[in-house]
Amino acid sequence: MDNRALDALICPVCGLEFMEVLPGEMSLVCIDGHTFDIARQGYVNLLTGHGTKFTQDTAAMVAARDEFLDAGHYRALADALAGTVEHILAAARSGAASPAHRPLILDAGTGTGWYLQQLLARRGDGGLLETVAGADADADANAGAGAEPAVDAIGLDISKFALRRAARRNPLAASLVWDLWQPLPMEAHRADVVLVVFAPRNAAEFARVLTPAGRLVVVTPRPGHLAEIARQAGMLGIHPEKDAALAASLASHFELESSQPVTAALRLTVADIANVALMGPAGHHLDPRELDRTVAGLPKWTDVTAEFTISVFRRLP
Ligand SMILES: C[S@@+](CC[C@H](N)C(=O)[O-])C[C@H]1O[C@@H](n2cnc3c(N)ncnc32)[C@H](O)[C@@H]1O
Ligand SMILES: [Zn+2]
Repeated sequence: MDNRALDALICPVCGLEFMEVLPGEMSLVCIDGHTFDIARQGYVNLLTGHGTKFTQDTAAMVAARDEFLDAGHYRALADALAGTVEHILAAARSGAASPAHRPLILDAGTGTGWYLQQLLARRGDGGLLETVAGADADADANAGAGAEPAVDAIGLDISKFALRRAARRNPLAASLVWDLWQPLPMEAHRADVVLVVFAPRNAAEFARVLTPAGRLVVVTPRPGHLAEIARQAGMLGIHPEKDAALAASLASHFELESSQPVTAALRLTVADIANVALMGPAGHHLDPRELDRTVAGLPKWTDVTAEFTISVFRRLP
């Protein structure tokens, strides 16, 4: 666990701040002594004793999501999302009281951390990677050596299977097991961006943790998303959201500032289709063996359209 985002976090038991984690230490301790283990993979479970009733994504669902995203099918969405976040952070930097302001991104329902990883790896003008002083800028073209994110990041998710992967992907972010329907273990007005990619939205808490100029960025599937395969692959769990319904669900605390459609033409193999079916909400109900039998009848390649909306919300005054 890296200390970078630590000062925005608060202990969920007493609300006080955490102490810095020294190298080799395997627990996160608040100044009142409440202690949370740091897992071997680097994430921290802050959800102790809350008795949250929730069916978390299984290891198989998480593995399917990781494999599908790593194959790059949703790269167009990741790029569009990064452009949106960079734009917001550029405005936050220029409006910040201190030039040393380090922006903070909260990725709510981070899953395996793939989108956050793509964001934090962005280079170039306005990118989220900054070259570390003294490092040879040319030497780091591939490996990322000599460069690190110019932002701090926190990833929350209720699934420890997902967070094991997220913590490995984003070692400089704080990866925390948490239930988004509980008060977030964060100080008020700290996040410049709250990112929600296909995950639950707690309007009141997102509004509390955002800075006054901060923005809530929500990615949802649009009607037509994966329509070509939704029925065959048993993905009954996809609920496309109309823009108006999304805005209404957040209207207690947010107003829509902009929304951008993102469409991607995908060419999927049978294995990709099995993964995309398993990684969504339908994965809780699908029998993997039956799914394999179903997709085995599909052609070698299937052309599929992914349809997303990236919506940016500002807090109500
Ligand atoms: C469809 S996945 C999206 C994950 C990630 N944002 C992505 O797009 O790869 C939804 C995520 O929300 C998480 N989730 C669902 N309910 C949650 C809750 N109450 N608190 C925290 N995370 C939750 C799930 O564990 C899952 O990782
Ligand atoms: Zn405490």
